[in-house]
Amino acid sequence: MAIDYSGQPLLKVENLKQHFKVSNTYTVKAVEGVSFEIYPGETYGLVGESGSGKSTIGRSVIRLYDPTSGSITFDGTDITKKLTRADKKKLRTEMQMIFQDPMSSLNPRKKVEDIIGEGLDIHHTYENRAQRDRLIKDILAKVGLAPEHASRYPHQFSGGQRQRVGIARALIMNPKLIIADECISALDVSIQAQVVNLMKDIQQETGAAYLFIAHDLSMVKYISDRIGVLHLGHLLETGTTEEIFSNPIHPYTKSLLSAIPEPNPIVEKNRVAESYDYKTSGIDYNQGFNHHVGGSHYVKCTDQEFAKWA
Ligand SMILES: Nc1ncnc2c1ncn2[C@@H]1O[C@H](COP(=O)(O)OP(=O)(O)OP(=O)(O)O)[C@@H](O)[C@H]1O
Ligand SMILES: [Mg+2]
Repeated sequence: MAIDYSGQPLLKVENLKQHFKVSNTYTVKAVEGVSFEIYPGETYGLVGESGSGKSTIGRSVIRLYDPTSGSITFDGTDITKKLTRADKKKLRTEMQMIFQDPMSSLNPRKKVEDIIGEGLDIHHTYENRAQRDRLIKDILAKVGLAPEHASRYPHQFSGGQRQRVGIARALIMNPKLIIADECISALDVSIQAQVVNLMKDIQQETGAAYLFIAHDLSMVKYISDRIGVLHLGHLLETGTTEEIFSNPIHPYTKSLLSAIPEPNPIVEKNRVAESYDYKTSGIDYNQGFNHHVGGSHYVKCTDQEFAKWA
């Protein structure tokens, strides 16, 4: 499905800051002025090492946090302002989250049908029991599970199957945006590919957009239309998957790319991982601003750095 980049973005995050005051003297600046957009039906991959602020961005977008500053616009509505009941309902249904660890995010005491049906129950989106059952069976089939799985409990599933339940729970609300926070990281490599393919198929069918969060670039490569590289709360580089992989500009992006193992043993033998240490790099993220490389490719740096790198 071709994405229409000329229309209105589904999600627009502008200069988002999310700070946490942990004591009287110490504030964690988890997210420092991040801006990006996601278009309908698009997959935006957000990558960065542990602690870079990926989950915080996901949680701010779905409004689990009140942003410190900046704005988040979803489907034309500024969701950082005070929300009306109707806005809240829209947000709770049209934006859904899939979590990293399905074992801890699925209630162990509930049957799968009630886990998946919870959103339907809360928002009263069915007329009778039979319709509810049908919706749940349909969604189970869509994620590759059998009807009899409905009456089982989370611990009776494998890791990959549990993540399918997590996907089904998000999907049943017919969301326009799904935030997938490391949703395949805990799975075996072979199962990761299955789940990613399932998510791609579902996207083809439903037109949902994804904010796909992962800590390395190899995981987002096959699913993302565009990628954003996050480090220490700053979005350092963003562009199409092709732009990021063929022409990385920021040394941090280069280091992430050089860390990806090559399937070809001859190439792999000669692969040199580029190290990157912010402290000794001489780079100050707070000095940088967005420079246009070309197309939808931007890098956050100073004029001097841009002249040197691009
Ligand atoms: N509620 C909170 N209170 C205080 N600090 C927080 C809070 N949530 C996150 N942080 C801090 O903000 C930073 C970013 O955390 P975040 O969980 O967003 O990182 P991440 O990129 O998702 O990492 P990971 O790959 O390990 O999941 C970290 O330094 C973290 O300790
Ligand atoms: Mg995280």
